[in-house]
Amino acid sequence: MKVGIAADHGGYALKEIIRPFLTDLGYEVVDFGAYQEDKLDDYPDLIIPLARAVASKQVERGIAVCGSGVGAAIVANKIAGVRACLINDHFSAHQGVEDDDMNLLCLGGRITGFRVAEEFIQTFLEAKFTGAERHQRRLEKVIQLENE
Ligand code: RB5
Repeated sequence: MKVGIAADHGGYALKEIIRPFLTDLGYEVVDFGAYQEDKLDDYPDLIIPLARAVASKQVERGIAVCGSGVGAAIVANKIAGVRACLINDHFSAHQGVEDDDMNLLCLGGRITGFRVAEEFIQTFLEAKFTGAERHQRRLEKVIQLENE
């Protein structure tokens, strides 16, 4: 699976941990930056290219990190086709995919410890949308909003 990652300065340290973690698990990683810690960078400039890559299916899933994960989730969800969520618990890391077809995981680099973040990521990437009728029906109602 091809996985995209991106972070601003608030998420940079965690992103640098995530990249080798994913590579070791056998994922192909596309890094959308930042490529160095720059306290003046702005999360939309880093997260939007990743979100567009998820929407266009250049990458199958995305992982976005900012300081809290909040800004990353807000901006990523502006891109049609992206279903992003800030994840702070193990249950939501897989249930968000199984029920809601979440395709972009957001993390707070200043909130979530490295090892816990790795567990959330592995759980997210191994989860699959069930496609159950009720979930498909709800998803279609979400997608309909993007066409209004
Ligand atoms: C940057 O200082 C910080 O505001 C940003 O990384 C993020 O937490 C926004 O939600």
